[in-house]
Amino acid sequence: MVPNTLFVGQQLYFLPVCESTNTEAHLLLNKNEATEGCTVITKEQTKGRGQRGNVWEAEPGMNITLSVILSPSFLLVRQQFYLNMAVSLAVLDLLHEFGADKAKVKWPNDIFFEDKKLGGILIENTINSQSIQHSIVGIGLNVNQQDFGYTTATSLAKILKNPLGLERVTVRLLEILEKRYLELRNNKLTKLKYEYLQALYRYQEVHVFEVENQRVKGCIAGVAEDGRLAVEIDKELKHFDFKEISYVF
Ligand code: BTN
Repeated sequence: MVPNTLFVGQQLYFLPVCESTNTEAHLLLNKNEATEGCTVITKEQTKGRGQRGNVWEAEPGMNITLSVILSPSFLLVRQQFYLNMAVSLAVLDLLHEFGADKAKVKWPNDIFFEDKKLGGILIENTINSQSIQHSIVGIGLNVNQQDFGYTTATSLAKILKNPLGLERVTVRLLEILEKRYLELRNNKLTKLKYEYLQALYRYQEVHVFEVENQRVKGCIAGVAEDGRLAVEIDKELKHFDFKEISYVF
């Protein structure tokens, strides 16, 4: 499995089982054994990690669970959300290419199809004074899993009603990820933000959110430079951090 890339996935570690590919990527960085684009892939995670300290569960051998080490030292710390946007767009590009046209990104970087979660992204940055030294980009994407035990998740195979070759999808993901990352490196920030907003789940629609344990009606108006979600509530524009707002389905 060799992606057609300059650096993403050129140094590849395939581990049949591991606790978490993000954790393995941290270990490689600490041992100075990783060059930019170094990718850790596994069939099975025993302690897969999600956002907000959640566990990431995936049926062994059925889905994509990988981490890519990047060095976006050209990004200022306050611009770090642009990496989230570039990675989210890469996953969406992949899904659109494979026919899941309605895939969207639910702020900040959950991958959704209609009202179900199809994938998630966990980015862990190492910050060095003003800039980002390393980013570990962890991607979990449900590809062939059929049963989830809950109704809020789906997979590409369920959407397309056909199983897919996991290796082929993984190779394309690495290729597309590099393409989006190069856009970021080439300072295409306005383009990335524009495309991210166009792909944003429930963008410019009125929906119910939960804020400080209260249900409120709001309309997503955009994303601030620092990555906070801008929502218009009662004709007033408010900005929210990740833990300050949740979607109501
Ligand atoms: C989320 O939606 O909460 C983010 C999920 C991220 C899961 C991926 S799977 C590969 C990588 N390794 C991990 O432990 N987590 C990420």
